[in-house]
Amino acid sequence: MEIKSDFLVIGSGIAGLFFALKVCKYGSVVIVTKRDSEESSTKYAQGGIASVMAEDDSYDLHIKDTLEAGAGLCNEDAVKLVVENGPEKIRELIELGAKFTLQGDKADVLALGREGGHSKRRIVHAADFTGAEIERALIEAVKKSENIRVYENHIAIDLITKGKVKPEGLSYTGSDDDRVYGAYVLNKNKGEVNSFLSKITIIATGGAGKVYLYTSNPDISTGDGIAMAYRAGARIANMEFIQFHPTCLYHPDAKSFLITEAVRGEGGLLKLKDGSTFMEKYHPMGCLAPRDIVARAIDYEMKKSGDDCVYLDVTHLEGYQIRERFPTIYKICLSLGIDITKTPIPVVPAAHYTCGGIVTDFYGRTNMRGLYAAGETACTGVHGANRLASNSLLEALVFSHKAAERAIQESKDTRFEDIQVPQWDTGNAVDSDESVVVSNNWDEIRRTLWNYVGIVRSNKRLNRAKRRIDILLDEIKEYYWNFIITSDLIELRNIATVADLIIQCAMIRKESRGLHYNIDYPSRDDVNWRKDTVIQYKRQL
Ligand code: FAD
Ligand code: SIN
Repeated sequence: MEIKSDFLVIGSGIAGLFFALKVCKYGSVVIVTKRDSEESSTKYAQGGIASVMAEDDSYDLHIKDTLEAGAGLCNEDAVKLVVENGPEKIRELIELGAKFTLQGDKADVLALGREGGHSKRRIVHAADFTGAEIERALIEAVKKSENIRVYENHIAIDLITKGKVKPEGLSYTGSDDDRVYGAYVLNKNKGEVNSFLSKITIIATGGAGKVYLYTSNPDISTGDGIAMAYRAGARIANMEFIQFHPTCLYHPDAKSFLITEAVRGEGGLLKLKDGSTFMEKYHPMGCLAPRDIVARAIDYEMKKSGDDCVYLDVTHLEGYQIRERFPTIYKICLSLGIDITKTPIPVVPAAHYTCGGIVTDFYGRTNMRGLYAAGETACTGVHGANRLASNSLLEALVFSHKAAERAIQESKDTRFEDIQVPQWDTGNAVDSDESVVVSNNWDEIRRTLWNYVGIVRSNKRLNRAKRRIDILLDEIKEYYWNFIITSDLIELRNIATVADLIIQCAMIRKESRGLHYNIDYPSRDDVNWRKDTVIQYKRQL
């Protein structure tokens, strides 16, 4: 079956939905999303969106904080663009219906939180469920548009590129190299693969935290968009910069539950088992130092003491203050037997954010015609070697808006003709009765990355990881072509590809900077390495 639209949006987090809402007045929009519409990292965002809203704050200060966190690798123009568009995007979200926490005494003034690396209070939030509130508002707005069709439980497998189209299908002005025509998508309910054809395709599939054994990310974060784009020939950059969030709940029954940095913003302190603090030894900002520094400090202290976790103590706040400011965290912890108004919270670092991704310009354009990317899947230059807290939602809003502006124009310059896309070919694939192979490979990849490509790296560990992932990639490739495609298999193939990209980038960078710390090159080298690590694949798998 073929489904045609002017704009194909892959993913229904903040980036995909905001883009869809911007373009839907100019053409038909299809959103494909691999689970329910709301399932995304966006839904779990706690802290909020960084934006200059207070009188004592300024764009220059937000830019300075972002550049400092980014450890010399941010693109300053991209940072400026994001920061200066922040307040307007917050207003747009409010107009769309998002309800943010207001200052108790002033009914129309936003309450602003503080997080690591920020010199001012500038985090717009909805208590500790900011992402869920934004996702709710965006989905409601999308439902009101007659021009947007949403296909839930549809997982994109691969982009449809020029090589797959016979004869040439779309006509457009400009060069016709590397054209993207849409995507092959598996309908998970029916088990059939459909061709979704479009003038413009935007990848908004989020990050790749699931490539690590311990992560704050939900199950959807398997780096599908990055892997798909890479296979199609898009440029991928800076994959070595995986951000580890310092404070995920450490509890056997808690899967990937984050304790927001805003807890430290409200004075929460990191402590060792004996109750002593340690962050003051590592950075003048103490517990509110940028994330790379806090996560590395915790990792070091845990290795030194042999303890399984450290503790985040917020008991200096009154019980009612905690319940009001952090209602979700309070309830979840209490359900696990931890009353955070009385007891410090056991925490560990976990993989949280993919700073690298598909290279785009300031309009979300990739190097392939008709292909855009926005949100966590993209590498826009904003985050450099380490993202500043709460800059991700902001970047997704600003860049998906900029992408929409250009995509509207490009879609006007593009006409549909008779596109003949070959149907998805299952070849001689048969049903697999060995799903254990898939789950074993998943597990091995995630453990390998956690053990060898984690917070602290070395050449030896990276080489070891590379050897293992190479073997797994070969196995998965063989498996992929022999068995009928399933959602698990698609994701396995993608996390293997992303694991490989992370290792490749980490091996290329011969220095330590931001989130990439290699004990064999412990110093930052601005003379040779103040540049991105860019990888491009030429062949279609
Ligand atoms: P996502 O929101 O992850 O959406 C991706 C979408 O793509 C999903 O709908 C998914 O199902 C879909 N998808 C993926 N692959 C496919 C495929 N192959 N086919 C079809 N659909 C696909 N950032 C902040 O700025 N502030 C915060 O307070 C904050 N807190 C966070 C807390 C947690 C626990 C986590 C995990 C992240 C947090 N972040 C925060 C980061 C931020 O939430 C994410 O970077 C951001 O939401 C990403 O948005 P996105 O639209 O790019 O992707
Ligand atoms: C948090 O709330 O600590 C997460 C913020 C972020 O990832 O930007």
